[in-house]
Amino acid sequence: MRIAIGSDHGGFQAKAEIIRFLQQEQHAVDDFGTHSAESCDYPDIAHKVAEAVAAGTYDCGILICGTGIGVSIAANKVPGIRAALCNDTYSARMARAHNNSNVLCMGARVLGVGLMEDIVRAYLAGEFEGGRHQRRVDKIEYK
Ligand code: RB5
Repeated sequence: MRIAIGSDHGGFQAKAEIIRFLQQEQHAVDDFGTHSAESCDYPDIAHKVAEAVAAGTYDCGILICGTGIGVSIAANKVPGIRAALCNDTYSARMARAHNNSNVLCMGARVLGVGLMEDIVRAYLAGEFEGGRHQRRVDKIEYK
């Protein structure tokens, strides 16, 4: 899959490990930053990744900050993005199956990298079930 990834300083180290993991799994990954452990603002990175996914350049995005909360709130402001904060594998699978999520968010200060890898694996393997879930996903867009 083509994956856009990004983090703030809180997720910087974990992002490097997740990129390595994704490459080992034969995915094509583009890193949208941050590129150092220096403090930065998570909305800047979240919007870049979300815009790239919304533009159709990537199959999905992965965002990491301290809790995963800030990046998920920011990414969900971009039209067409359904960012899901998943700190467990069941939520990751269901975010795809029921919510047709296109951006996975995780908290590096909440999770260890081993669990983050399992969550990424569950998310990428998840498939949207459509049907009644499509109707609900269509209703998410607030008019
Ligand atoms: C940065 O200290 C922290 O606030 C950020 O990584 C994230 O957890 C925000 O939601």
